[in-house]
Amino acid sequence: MSTEPLWSENLRKVYTVKGAPAVEALAGVSMNVRPGERVALLGRNGAGKTTFLRIASTLLRPTSGSIRVFGYDVDSTPEKARPYIAVVPQEGKPFFHLCPREQVYTYLRARGLSREVAQNRTEEALVRMGLTEVADRLAITLSGGQRQRTMVATVIATEAPLLFLDEPTIGMDPFARREVWASLRDLTAKGSTILLTTHYLDEAEALSHRLYIVEQGRVIVSGTAEDLKRSVGGTVKVSMPNGVGRAEQFRSFGEVVTDGDGLTVIVTPERLREVMDLAERGHITPIVGPVSLEEAFLRVVGRKIDED
Ligand SMILES: Nc1ncnc2c1ncn2[C@@H]1O[C@H](COP(=O)(O)OP(=O)(O)OP(=O)(O)O)[C@@H](O)[C@H]1O
Ligand SMILES: [Mg+2]
Repeated sequence: MSTEPLWSENLRKVYTVKGAPAVEALAGVSMNVRPGERVALLGRNGAGKTTFLRIASTLLRPTSGSIRVFGYDVDSTPEKARPYIAVVPQEGKPFFHLCPREQVYTYLRARGLSREVAQNRTEEALVRMGLTEVADRLAITLSGGQRQRTMVATVIATEAPLLFLDEPTIGMDPFARREVWASLRDLTAKGSTILLTTHYLDEAEALSHRLYIVEQGRVIVSGTAEDLKRSVGGTVKVSMPNGVGRAEQFRSFGEVVTDGDGLTVIVTPERLREVMDLAERGHITPIVGPVSLEEAFLRVVGRKIDED
């Protein structure tokens, strides 16, 4: 066993569909996730995120390339990789004829945990995910968010060394999302490693040490959220309502974005003073704030779409 939780090189997946053109969902993805890391896989709908996670979790075979989980080749020896991983699949649902308590417990027992450990972990996960009141109700009677909480509870209770979570907090309220974040942080503190996808970029930012952005089956960016923001020209944005007419004056400071009558300049913290001075001289009162990961994502992916 190697200590590297996940490693892939030039991973490709081509779906062949009868009577339709083949789809190249992954066009050579290389990535690695280090022990104890929480890594977010981001990208537009159809970018290839779920395909990657399905291959990594042995549910789908790659067309070519290599992928290993703790040193085990996922394609040729899936049975070696499986004990290390647990998965929250995209749009997964708990078994409709089980209650959350039964679902979590049964899954842990099926993974080979003792009665006592399974029982303790089940109760812990139910409390953690706020499911105690509905723990003995059939899944079919639960709300959408409660079902999703059950899926996440099941997987966090495994404390598996490598967790794959495909949009784990979809449909959850803001409190539940934060509970998931805290649980995932605790798991990595105990030594687990996490790869997750999400369309909530505040979540990616709050949770991940590093991120990969995929677009049309290729990694277009990897690094920290800070790296990504810097790549769009800065981490601070200065918004000027009604400033659109002054775009030229601010262009030399950084990227300038117009939105209706408004003008936004993205700058590095070092140049903020100059921009503020210039705005003040023009009798504009700017609003200063951090560049969000979502804004950086829109720029970077937008740029890539324009190039293509
Ligand atoms: N079983 C399949 N057969 C054919 N094409 C597929 C299949 N599954 C996915 N695809 C295609 O492969 C591409 C990647 O899909 P994938 O589900 O990996 O995207 P995703 O990044 O997870 O998107 P989303 O954010 O919408 O979940 C898409 O073009 C999709 O239509
Ligand atoms: Mg998906």
